[in-house]
Parts: sequence; structure tokens; C-alpha cells
Amino acid sequence: MSGFSRAVGRDVRFIAVTGFFRDNNTLVCDGVPLSEVAREHGTPLYVYSADAIRTAYRELDEAFASHPHRIHYAMKANSSLAVVRLLREAGSAVDANSIGEVELAMRAGFPSSDIVFSGVGKSHDEIERAVQLGLKAINAESAGELERIDRAAQARGVRARVAVRVNPDIDAGTHPHISTGLHINKFGVPLEQAGALYRRMATQPGLEPVGIHVHLGSQIISTEPLQRGASAVVRLARELRDGGVLLDHIDIGGGLGISYDGSRAPTAAEYAAAVLPIVAASGLSIALEPGRYIVGAAAALVARVVDLKDAAGGHHFAVLDAGMTELMRPMLYGAFHRIVAVVPRAARDVCYDIVGPVCESTDAFGERRLNQLEVGDLLAILDTGAYGSAMSSNYNRRPLPAEVMVDGGKARVIRRRQTIEDQLSLET
Ligand code: LLP
Repeated sequence: MSGFSRAVGRDVRFIAVTGFFRDNNTLVCDGVPLSEVAREHGTPLYVYSADAIRTAYRELDEAFASHPHRIHYAMKANSSLAVVRLLREAGSAVDANSIGEVELAMRAGFPSSDIVFSGVGKSHDEIERAVQLGLKAINAESAGELERIDRAAQARGVRARVAVRVNPDIDAGTHPHISTGLHINKFGVPLEQAGALYRRMATQPGLEPVGIHVHLGSQIISTEPLQRGASAVVRLARELRDGGVLLDHIDIGGGLGISYDGSRAPTAAEYAAAVLPIVAASGLSIALEPGRYIVGAAAALVARVVDLKDAAGGHHFAVLDAGMTELMRPMLYGAFHRIVAVVPRAARDVCYDIVGPVCESTDAFGERRLNQLEVGDLLAILDTGAYGSAMSSNYNRRPLPAEVMVDGGKARVIRRRQTIEDQLSLET
């Protein structure tokens, strides 16, 4: 049995492997063979390990246990209702990036006091609803947005709890498309302007400053920029305290990366060791907004080979029934995901260009050397729990894929496959 996912458990006599691993040459999710799940539910199919999600949540929660903290799972990574509910049951709070995510969180059972609302470009209606709900914090992105929140709150005779998202101009060393903490990025307000915004809140009766927010980017695999980001906001919190502005929490955002290719990525403990002492010194509680770290390794996208063909130049194409409509990360960021056969054949290795069925040349997952494939074979694209299903689309009128969660040795449908009727129900 060889593990793809992390091995967990302190007691060396009992090491539980959660997630995806091989058992008798078959890839299984928490003991359930993916070939069986695919036979029953069809492909393309997202398969989640409930235990892998719980384990990642617990690792992070325990790593920060020495200081008052709250994990606000970043729903943008994966907002399937069952995933969000599972995290509520595990003790998580949430970070929402649109009012749709706020509404979903409420339906998943989160009280408004467990929801922070981030996001550049909140619309008038989104601000109205967020103020009405009385969220834990609206993470405000600009002076103008603070004014709009203030007006909405005053009109209701309430004070909206806000945190200013600061942009500290720190290079997180990640892909340019998912870097957010540089001055050239659209996010937040420049660090040096933030102090004045907090002081101005004394004249804005609809606003109650409760925190400072920073988020540098995603898939960050060095703790050093995360430390610098934390230091910058802690310095600001101190200045504010000295000026009489007392806050409740520092929201250090998300961004902790995972290993997609087996190379080293920081553990939850290393992340906490890097940032916790810095933030703890502020005396404020910590809010974290991890998305990828919690759900990234917890899913595989299972797809079937629908065609094999040879092109000029000795090229072999393996065409899958999953493409950029189900998983856009390789096409959008050049992201690497391991692709493995669910039941490898004892056959020679062939180098395949693994592509999807969508009418775009960019619809390709990359080249992989695999045991020779046959049409009908199943492949699993690993570590697709974060920003996989959440970024799927109906391009080419393809249905959103079905989703299954394995929990306690049982596979349960958490989202049925979309039908053409579902799509057309919105249209006249
Ligand atoms: N908080 C804020 C304000 C964010 O903008 C994000 C992600 C997170 C938390 C969660 O970050 P995480 O812990 O998941 O890195 N689609 C891209 C990633 C976009 C991230 C957007 N913001 C991808 O597939 O890599």
C-alpha cells in the first residue's frame, strides 16, 4: 500500500493514511476503490476524502492552539455544501468572497458571527446584505468601500464591524496570477495609508474597526513572506493601539501552499512556528483564512480515456472526458497535478499528451509517462480539492461534474451531475 496523501497519527503503532492510496494495484479513497465509485457514478467525477479534510483542518487548528485563534476556511477554494458543512462540524468558521458564499455559509449552518467577508469589488447589494447580517467582519478593500459600508450601516442604525485589508507590497514568490500583496495588485489599501483610514473611522459612526486583514497570495511555499506580512500588520496594530484604536483580531489571510509534485512544502506546524510568535506578541486574537491547505489534497478528479491517437512527430494523445471545464488550473496557471492510472496495466511506459475534450488547444493537462493506456481506462488527477470543482464551468455546454464524498468507508453523492435541463432552467 503506497500513500499519495499524508500519513497522520502521533502513535507510531497506529498510522492512519487518509486520502488516496493504492491497495492491490487499485487507487482507493479511504479504502473505497475509485474504479467502483466511477462505475456507479460515471465520469468525470470529483471524489473527496472527508477524513483528509478533517485531518488538515485539525493539523492547522492544533498548530495554533497556544494562542486564541479562529480558522476561517476560505470557501472560494471549494464551496460544495457538503464540504462547507463538514468543516462547520469540525469547528471551522468561514471566509466568504461574495454574497453568494455568505448565503451558502448561512445555509450550511454558520452563524453570521463566524463569517468574514473579503473580496475586491463588493457591490451595493452585497454591502447592504453583509451589514444587515452583522458579520464578524467585512474586510474592506478601499477608502470608498469603507464609506459605502458606513452609509449602509448608518441607514440601518447599526455599526458594521470592519477590518481594513492592507497591501504591504510583499512578494509572496508565487505565480503572478495568484499574487495579491504587491502594490501592482488590485487588492487592499497601501500599508502606509491604512493608519489614516482607521483614525478616520472615529468620524464614521457606522463603522466599528475590529481587525486588520492581510492576504499576500496563494500557493505560497516559503514562510518568509508570510512572516513579513504578519510583521507589517502587527506594527500597524501597535501604532493604532498607541493612538487609541483598539482591535480584536489580526486576520493573516490564507495562502499556505501544498506540495503538488512531492517537493517540500511547509507543514502546519512550521507555518504556525513562523507566524504565531509575531502575531501573538500583538496580544490580539488571530484569524486565518486557509483554503487550499484544508481541501487541496482531499480530492481526485476521476476521468476516463475516451480516445487515443498518434500525431505527427511521435506524439501520443490521450483524450479524457475531463478538461478545462472541470479543472482549469493547468490551463490558467500552468499548474502541475499528478495524473495516475486508477488501475495501472502491466504494460510499457508511453509518453502521453493528456488533453481534454474542449474545443481549445489550451485544454491540455500536460505530458505524462504512463503505462500504456486503452480507451475506457480511468485516470485520477490528484490534489484537485482546491480550485478544481469551484472553478468549473459550462463551456461547450458541458455539465458540471458529479461529486462524491467518501466518509467512514462509504461513498455518497454530494452533488449530482448537472443535466441539460438544469442548465436550460435559467433560460427562456
Ligand atoms: N483569503 C483571501 C482574501 C483570498 O483571496 C484567498 C485566495 C484565500 C484567503 C485563500 O487562499 P489559499 O489558502 O487557498 O491559498 N485559483 C487559484 C487560487 C486563487 C486564490 C484566490 N484567493 C489557484 O487555483 O491556484
